[in-house]
Amino acid sequence: MSIDNDLTRDWWKSAVVYQIYPRSFADSDGDGTGDLRGIIERLDYLQTLGVDVVWLGPVYRSPQYDNGYDISDYQDVDPIFGTLDDLDELIEELHRRGIRLLMDIVVNHTSDEHPWFVESRDPSSERRDWYFWRPPRPDHAGGEPGAEPNNWNAVFSGPAWEWDAASGEYFLHMFSRKQPDLNWENPQVRSAIYRMMRWWLDRGVDGFRLDVINLISKPEGLPDGAGFTQIADGPRMHEFLAEMNAEVLADQPRPLLVVGEMPGVTVEDARRYTDPERREVDMVFQFEHVDLDHGPGGKFDLVPLPMPRLRENLMRWQVELEPVGWNSLYWDNHDQPRAVSRFGDDDAQWREVSAKTLATVLHLLRGTPYVYQGQELGMTNTPFADIAGFRDIESLNYAAEQETAGRLFDELLPGLSAGSRDNARTPMQWDDSAGAGFTSGEPWIAVNPNAAQINAQRQVGVAGSVFEHYRALIAFRHDEPCVAHGGVTPLAMDHPDLWAYRREHEGIELLVLASFTREPIEIPADLLEDWMDCDAGDPSRDGVTVAIATSDEAASAVLADGRLPGWESVVLRRIR
Ligand code: NOJ
Repeated sequence: MSIDNDLTRDWWKSAVVYQIYPRSFADSDGDGTGDLRGIIERLDYLQTLGVDVVWLGPVYRSPQYDNGYDISDYQDVDPIFGTLDDLDELIEELHRRGIRLLMDIVVNHTSDEHPWFVESRDPSSERRDWYFWRPPRPDHAGGEPGAEPNNWNAVFSGPAWEWDAASGEYFLHMFSRKQPDLNWENPQVRSAIYRMMRWWLDRGVDGFRLDVINLISKPEGLPDGAGFTQIADGPRMHEFLAEMNAEVLADQPRPLLVVGEMPGVTVEDARRYTDPERREVDMVFQFEHVDLDHGPGGKFDLVPLPMPRLRENLMRWQVELEPVGWNSLYWDNHDQPRAVSRFGDDDAQWREVSAKTLATVLHLLRGTPYVYQGQELGMTNTPFADIAGFRDIESLNYAAEQETAGRLFDELLPGLSAGSRDNARTPMQWDDSAGAGFTSGEPWIAVNPNAAQINAQRQVGVAGSVFEHYRALIAFRHDEPCVAHGGVTPLAMDHPDLWAYRREHEGIELLVLASFTREPIEIPADLLEDWMDCDAGDPSRDGVTVAIATSDEAASAVLADGRLPGWESVVLRRIR
């Protein structure tokens, strides 16, 4: 097998992306941190799962304050992950298995240890203008509270400005102070970035996931204001993306993929960014549905999220992007708590079935599904007991800020445990050995204590497992054009627990029925009209088949008496 270069431009509509967080996937040398050779050793697993694309989290040289999202050399691999030769081998081995490589690239900011920024610290340097350096507010002394050039806050706590006493100015950092923002207004910055991206394409990578890309065009004059939302989707965004596309991608003969991670993007914005005519990005990676459970205190103040709110949001995106545009479909990633604990039911009795149902709902939608490492096993959140268990800069900065403001850590723990990005970053659970098959050493972050029950060894090839359910869903997208190309009709939108929708394409119809509760659901009769004269034991009658089901019992219960057992889901298919 090898990658097929003879594909339509929108080949990614029938593709499934698997996200690897390199430090937590597989450690080949026992130092406790995942690495490229570890990934290479596990590629057969990905091939078995059937994914088309691997999104590789940043492995560039980095001081690792934000686990690689602080890059100090875009054209080298950090020694903790391996070497450029290892990366070349990874590309080759992926391609040999028919899998493409999507590089995560962070160009809104660099590390403060990047030579560009180091040079830029000198006010007389040609690189001064590559970042945002500004004097204190008039009539304020630099370094004093309130002297920052504007009132923007950083995503990782505190003001978005860091005082540099040596040069008498502040620099802008929308994330941590170790991540200064690049000045995209400067054409030299843009051409340096485009050159670097072409270098990666020449090396064989198949596209980019562009980190927080909708922050690169800052509002003119950097005015005081609402901060983050004001900065997103700035005045030159579309121009910059079109320019990037023309400079980096347009003359590439092979099928590529460009994904724009865009916090705060609305569905209207997404249509423009992904309209194929405009040639900006292929799909957005948006956040509305994963922000719905944020309480007044933000992401560490999670509030209960009734399923209908989640459904209303995702189905609105479905309907509004149908005429033009494309979305990434995800529950989990390296910045989010684990989906089964958050949107499903991680109680031992319901964990597997609810993990499978979350997968069904997502993978049957229009868009490109993403599987975040371990999601295909139903991996859960971790029971963090104290501050020593956390590693993430966002969680640690938040705890420090709140403690300075007088809150006790015990008070913060429930919010941190539920919302921390570290939930997604515990080691991949391969088997029930001490290091979960991830490492023979001391892992950089503790293994989830449930690794002995939830791991790949117990699931691959085991009928009914979460892994095998994912495998079936991925194969179904490949085989059934209706999944990739069909229209979407939301159904029973007033039902409190049933998530239902129809897909239609060239005479094929799919009906998706999914339960989001432990109690059995009576399916509204009108939904099943014309479908129930098929029975699960005779799948060919009237052209109606059970395409996917979380269990045979669920399929029988739906078809025999219009009832869906707790947390189960069924997908029916028919020819019209
Ligand atoms: C988004 C990335 O997904 C996240 O992990 C990172 O911390 C920020 N961007 C800053 O690069």
